[in-house]
Amino acid sequence: MPALVLLGAQWGDEGKGKATDLLGGSVDYVVRYQGGNNAGHTVVVGDQKYALHLLPSGILSPGCVPVIGNGVVVDPAVLLSELSGLEERGVDTSKLLISGNAHLITPYHTTMDKVTERFLGKRRIGTTGRGIGPTYADKINRVGIRVQDLFDESILTQKVEAALDQKNQILAKLYNRRAIAVEQVVEELLGYADALRGYVCDTTLLLNDALDQDKVVLFEGGQGTLLDVDHGTYPFVTSSNPTAGGACTGAGVGPTRIDRVIGILKAYTTRVGAGPFPTELFDEDGEKLRTIGGERGVTTGRDRRCGWFDAVIARYATRVNGLTDFFLTKLDVLTGWESIPVCVAYEIDGRRVTELPYNQTDFHHAKPVYEMLPGWSEDISGAKEFSDLPKNAQAYVKALEEMSGAPVSAIGVGPGRDETIQINSFL
Ligand code: IMP
Repeated sequence: MPALVLLGAQWGDEGKGKATDLLGGSVDYVVRYQGGNNAGHTVVVGDQKYALHLLPSGILSPGCVPVIGNGVVVDPAVLLSELSGLEERGVDTSKLLISGNAHLITPYHTTMDKVTERFLGKRRIGTTGRGIGPTYADKINRVGIRVQDLFDESILTQKVEAALDQKNQILAKLYNRRAIAVEQVVEELLGYADALRGYVCDTTLLLNDALDQDKVVLFEGGQGTLLDVDHGTYPFVTSSNPTAGGACTGAGVGPTRIDRVIGILKAYTTRVGAGPFPTELFDEDGEKLRTIGGERGVTTGRDRRCGWFDAVIARYATRVNGLTDFFLTKLDVLTGWESIPVCVAYEIDGRRVTELPYNQTDFHHAKPVYEMLPGWSEDISGAKEFSDLPKNAQAYVKALEEMSGAPVSAIGVGPGRDETIQINSFL
């Protein structure tokens, strides 16, 4: 079972770090295939806690090769500081590999991200401000800068010139900002070249070779299904494809090579940034979920919006990703509620709808239809087997599984590394 995709089944922040942690030593390669340092996950190793943004979580497993695929956007300053931060803590980062085709986030992308959001005013997306959208826009517009361009000053200069030609007009005339000098950007980017050179290679070739040799390759999605630029709640999405197909384009492997697609599913729902969220809570239950669940962004520090579990979304994630398994996280956060509402359908303009509406207006009008499931009060953090869970917690998991369309193969019952119940092996 060599190729697995691990991705968020909701709006991100489902606790992917815990799942990669569980796979731990059995994975040979961990590959990021999209997104950039807009992502953030916490990985706990022993008594050490690491917050990773751009680096694949495999960087923390000694036997594993971490790979940044072609579909990722790389801010070289962030990458180097994340690497040196890990090295200072004694982590060996020398195995990291970076695709020469990955696009670079430059200072003008970050500037564009911020000024565009400001310009959008109340229509803003609530981006992380890391330059993600503008970098992907340049990639699609064919004026992006790739990692490999760092090693050819003449090409780099020409490309930066081409990119800034238009952007400087926009910055000066539309946003009333100072134009950005080509030489300054080129100089800054060249300054990263030597530090990065040793990591850069043809990751597509390498990964396909690894799969030919039956190595275990884990493709690690950032963000989540509903933030996918094609399948998410557009325009309130990120600018890449976290869904399973993104693993193929973002790493250069064919769909026939993927054996298993695991969706990380929080036992309730959270979202950061703007956009529709049918089960969002504005009352003390929402506050309680936020406090107990520690729902504050690893990357931005922003409070996450919180709501009850939404089975319509989970079912949709199963469909668009072809999920084979779920990893249900943070079940322990729900301990203490007498009964727990679960959204089983939406009511849209008087109609009951059980599939995610493809029409944006409909989704904005969707009101959750709840079914009440009985809660539990016992501490579940020590549960090792499914049968250790209180009957009502077992029934909650079974109901979610039934509604969501794929087996729940693992359950997170606490933040610690070993606070996980594994029902089916992922390998
Ligand atoms: P961007 O990816 O910075 O362009 O932001 C677009 C949207 O995706 C915003 O609503 C962000 O809050 C959201 N977003 C980006 N990365 C993450 C993540 O890792 N977790 C949750 N939300 C994210």
